Formats: sequence, structure tokens, C-alpha cells
Amino acid sequence: MRDHHPVLLREVLEALRPREGGVYFDCTLGRGGHATALLEIVGPGGRVIGLDRDPEAVVAGRRLAEADPRLVVRAASFSSLLQQAEELGTTGRVDGVLFDLGVSSPQLEAPERGFSFLRDGPLDMRMDPSAGTSAAQWLNTASEAEIARVLRSYGEEPDAHRIASAIVRARPLSTTRQLSELVERAVPRRARDRHPATLTFQAIRIFLNRELEELESALPQALEVLRAGGRLAVISFHSLEDRRVKRFIRDQARGDPFPRDLPVPQSALRPRLRPVGDAVRPSVEEVADNPRARSAVLRVAEKL
Ligand SMILES: C[S@@+](CC[C@H](N)C(=O)[O-])C[C@H]1O[C@@H](n2cnc3c(N)ncnc32)[C@H](O)[C@@H]1O
Repeated sequence: MRDHHPVLLREVLEALRPREGGVYFDCTLGRGGHATALLEIVGPGGRVIGLDRDPEAVVAGRRLAEADPRLVVRAASFSSLLQQAEELGTTGRVDGVLFDLGVSSPQLEAPERGFSFLRDGPLDMRMDPSAGTSAAQWLNTASEAEIARVLRSYGEEPDAHRIASAIVRARPLSTTRQLSELVERAVPRRARDRHPATLTFQAIRIFLNRELEELESALPQALEVLRAGGRLAVISFHSLEDRRVKRFIRDQARGDPFPRDLPVPQSALRPRLRPVGDAVRPSVEEVADNPRARSAVLRVAEKL
């Protein structure tokens, strides 16, 4: 299970190079797999600050923190990273910031959270079930065009229109099984290794949880909270995320956006990040051990 096998753990530790007494932000605490490994290295004077917007992750994190006061757990979206750092007096002093994006195994495996087409449960899909709109509320009220747009933009689903039309005809929907069976009937099975509803579920989840907006907002904040020489490590699980991370690192490594034809010396461009290595993918052994690691991509950069 993913929580017992934090994705790309060895690679994350090599990237962040945690040091004794260091301060690290784990922006996606989950069940604390990466955070626990960091705590093992940072020694008695180190600190790991874990953020999560899922109340169940926060409860599990607080349990860990009771046993280890070097772990600080905050119920927060990572789009409030800078505010969290300000409140803890760590802005500009952080040694490493980690994002392990997406959903956790406990979220996927709990039928009542409604994330999985493999388990029947209420159509919810909110990481924080106390806020925002559930998948059922949205699917039962959005227009067909809006549903098709979301499936296309956030799932890159080639049959977005056909699925959106089937959803609107079948409303009201209330369970994950209703949605997954409906998609299965609406579209031909394309890939043997992928359920036909995979992209539909992914798209609705990303849209409802504003996952791409959260990431776009948090990356510049990570740069603010890091000290010079501190490192950013981001694990993405699909190309929509990875594209944004790659572009952010590239733009910050290039510096201020002067028009290309202006004769501006390199020193005036003020690059803020240095990419560290290329994109890192899990080993064959890790994927065999943990199939969910299959699509993971780690990118690393150092603050200048
Ligand atoms: C892949 S899991 C992290 C697993 C964790 N690294 C571990 O080793 O247990 C992602 C976690 O990030 C949380 N999450 C996703 N987006 C978030 C956001 N914008 N703000 C805060 N937490 C978020 C999810 O609730 C989930 O618990």
C-alpha cells in the first residue's frame, strides 16, 4: 500500500539531502511516510511541518505528532504554504519543501470518500469533505457542455462529449458504481490495463479539488519559504501536474521575463532556481512492489 511504501522515498531523500537540525515542509502529509523518513534524519533539533487538507490525514498526523513533537501538523491546503510558514516563523529559513501530489491510498480505498470506481460509495471525491461541492452535487447540476469541458481539460478524455451526454441523461447520480457503469456503457473499452472510467474519475477529482490551481499557487510560495540552497521536490502523477512543475522550474531558472530580443545581461535576469538533475521515475522494482508508483515523476530544484 502506498502509505507503507512512500513513493520514490530514496530518491526524495537524495533530492532533499536532509540535514541535522533542518526544517522541512511536507505539503502533502498523507499518512506521514515521507515525513517519518525525514524525521529519522533531522535529529533532535530538526522539524518537519506537515500540511494536509484531509481531516483523516490530519488526525493520523496528529497521532504521530503526539509521539514526536518535532512533527508539526496543520490542517491546511498547501496554497496557504506561505501563511503557514509566516505563522511558524520559518519563512526564508526552510531547508526543503516536498509535494507528493494527488490522492493517498487511504483516500482511494475508503468507499465512503467516493474516489474510486472500484469501490461502491457515495459520489463525493472531496479531499476535505467539509468544504466545496461533492461530485454528485456537481454532476447533477452542471450543464452537459461544462461536464464535457472538465472531462476533456482535466482527464484528456477523448470521449468527453459522449460521457457527458450519458451523465446528463442518467441524472440524478448518487454512487460511484452508477458513474463507472454508465461510463463503461457509453464508451468502448480502449485499454486492457485501464478501466474505461479512469479518466472520468481523475478529471472530476482534479476539477472539484482545484488541484492544478492549488499547485500553481503553491509553487511560488515554496520558493518564498525556502532558504538559499534549500530544495524543492515535487512528485506528480500525471502530465497535467508535471507540465506545470517543469514549466515553473524552467521559468524560475531563466529569471525575469524580459522580451527575448532585449540585450539584457544574464546577471540582470535574476534566476531564482537551479534544476537538480532530470526528471526521476520509479525503478522497475518499485513499480512491481507498488503499482501506484507507476506514473510518478519527481522533479527537484535548488533555490539560488
Ligand atoms: C499522495 S498522498 C501523500 C502521501 C504521503 N507522502 C505519505 O507518505 O503518506 C497526498 C496527500 O496530499 C493531500 N493533498 C492533496 N492536495 C492537497 C492540497 N492542495 N493541500 C493540502 N493537502 C493536499 C491529500 O489529502 C493526501 O493526503
